Amino acid sequence: MSMIEWSDELSIGIDYIDEQHKQLMAIINELQLAVEYDKGPDFVYPIIEHLYNYANTHFSDEEELLRMHNYPDLIDHRQEHLAFISKIDELKNRYETDREGLTIHLRNFLLGWLYNHIKSEDQAYRHFLDRKGVLPHSHKESGQDS
Ligand SMILES: [Fe+2]
Ligand SMILES: [Fe+2]
Repeated sequence: MSMIEWSDELSIGIDYIDEQHKQLMAIINELQLAVEYDKGPDFVYPIIEHLYNYANTHFSDEEELLRMHNYPDLIDHRQEHLAFISKIDELKNRYETDREGLTIHLRNFLLGWLYNHIKSEDQAYRHFLDRKGVLPHSHKESGQDS
């Protein structure tokens, strides 16, 4: 497993959101170290705590941004965020009984989230905001209804 790196395909184009997505990437890499160096709960529990704080802050900031711009798919988007939190709850509980397996599982779940949610659902709202002309580098398409 190699460390994952940021790529422009992941960028939303809003600095604070990109910074938050990079934080998730850092968490994934910490979990990867935990797997490689066979770290125990003293190392992994703080990462899980950090993940909760991260998710609460990031999801509320992102949802606030989407609400502000009347994003039409906000309800579905929020459902995915809620499902993420439930999944973390479930994995945290399972960590009690299967430490090694769960560290890998959690890392893989977050990696999947990066590619399935951030690269897909978050990119979908990026396109919407871009069409509305609200991104710092938007190229508002002429004739497009915002
Ligand atoms: Fe996001
Ligand atoms: Fe999101």
